[in-house]
Amino acid sequence: MIGRLNHVAIAVPDLGAAAAQYRDTLGAVVGPPQDEPDHGVTVIFITLPNTKIELLHPLGADSPIRGFLDKNPSGGIHHICYEVDDILAARDRLAAAGARVLGSGEPRTGAHGKPVLFLHPKDFTGTLIELEQA
Ligand code: CO
Repeated sequence: MIGRLNHVAIAVPDLGAAAAQYRDTLGAVVGPPQDEPDHGVTVIFITLPNTKIELLHPLGADSPIRGFLDKNPSGGIHHICYEVDDILAARDRLAAAGARVLGSGEPRTGAHGKPVLFLHPKDFTGTLIELEQA
């Protein structure tokens, strides 16, 4: 059911420093910061030949990644995103298998303007999974 790895998201305490490290030290193609107020994050996408890295930084006081950074002050891998062809069919199949979909269970518009859902990390070997309709 899942397809390509769309991105790996890394929460970072200093977005500018992380972007500069990927650009200057690792030699990657680094995009501009984008504020995503609906998700409480500012993101920078780094384009690699086979996937993307999403740098995440809290936006606003109740950002969902602020607690993660409190526990991981140097930053860390926050989630991985897999592509699916049909996000509602994927959700229904996973829910029928007992997996918990976070939030209302309805897809939201993600950072690429496409529908996304998040799955409970305790149901997937401790990994927060984002599904994005490709
Ligand atoms: Co993501």
